[in-house]
Amino acid sequence: MQIETSKSLQPFNTFGIRATAAYYVAIEDVPALQLFLKSDYPEPDNMLVLGGGSNLLFTGDFDGLVLHMLNKGIEIISEDENGIEVRVQAGEVWDDFVTWCTERNLYGVENLVAIPGSVGAAPVQNIGAYGAEVKDVIASVDTVTIEDGDLRTLTAAACGFGYRSSIFKRELRGRAIITSVVFRLQKSGVLNTGYGDVQKMLSERGITDPRPADIAAVIRSIRSAKLPDPAITGNAGSFFKNPVIGEVEAKALRASHPGLPCWPQPDGTVKLAAGWLIEQCRLKGFRMGNAAVHDRQALVLVNAGGATGYEVMALANHIIKTVWLQFGIRLEPEVNIL
Ligand code: EPU
Repeated sequence: MQIETSKSLQPFNTFGIRATAAYYVAIEDVPALQLFLKSDYPEPDNMLVLGGGSNLLFTGDFDGLVLHMLNKGIEIISEDENGIEVRVQAGEVWDDFVTWCTERNLYGVENLVAIPGSVGAAPVQNIGAYGAEVKDVIASVDTVTIEDGDLRTLTAAACGFGYRSSIFKRELRGRAIITSVVFRLQKSGVLNTGYGDVQKMLSERGITDPRPADIAAVIRSIRSAKLPDPAITGNAGSFFKNPVIGEVEAKALRASHPGLPCWPQPDGTVKLAAGWLIEQCRLKGFRMGNAAVHDRQALVLVNAGGATGYEVMALANHIIKTVWLQFGIRLEPEVNIL
């Protein structure tokens, strides 16, 4: 395997930020990755496993080693009358896999359509949208341990999934590389149409008995109306997490801000809409240098053209400060900042 030096990372991050990697290796298959990790490669202090590059922000050049996961393949490993189990290589494009499923009328990932990124990145932050989270269809996750290059499989329970979080963001950060994911998909089931405008748009389209492909088509159009296409405008989806606060605090905030959207969580906490908080601060569409808040979804920051990662961070910090002063809520980035 070839180690490249001073490699441009601009094509590999959806923010379109100009940055280089000191060392870069393209990983086409798992045995090659294992061989590499077991070899005497010059081990840097810093290593980044790169998938679709859709959830990160480079604030400068990366002085370590980038392992770019480009391994492909979708393989059915078991099937019965209820559903299938399928192993998908980490380098597959997530949205292509969703299409693979909806074309076969398989249930489980239709609400997660049009999320940028790779399959290998999906478990890391437990991607979610429109009332669904990827953890609910993951059977297991295959990894290679960086230290010894050995394969290890984690069951879904061992992955410690939470809201936009997993063991891969915590204990296994920098220690394990996700090489493939095993999904369990159903041949029939109940579709989740309760979130946002999904049901409304189905009705408008006259669809009374939707299939997964119908849900995917509807959500794809809702998303494309609200979210910027990274191929045109650099961005990394939601820049901040939706904050989760205590019930008492939420009640007090709601009393002073009656319009505040709140989603009570099973554990008694309350999730707030960060996009709403930012919009209330009149920051929707706000521009600072070459970075801006998207004009149709305040949770998304965009590269308005030639932005540096530093400029995006300056804007993010301005938003954090403004929301803090107005609401006493501290927003946290969802995007990985390097
Ligand atoms: N809102 C505003 N102004 C805005 C944006 C949102 O007032 O500019 C309010 C609206 O009241 C809306 C509420 O916030 O009812 C929620 O907005 P939306 O349904 O658009 O979802 P979100 O909370 O902003 C989350 C995910 C998205 C996911 C959508 C749809 C996070 C951090 N973000 O956004 O995920 O697509 O729900 O389910 O959880 C991503 O992670 O990159 C991402 C795009």
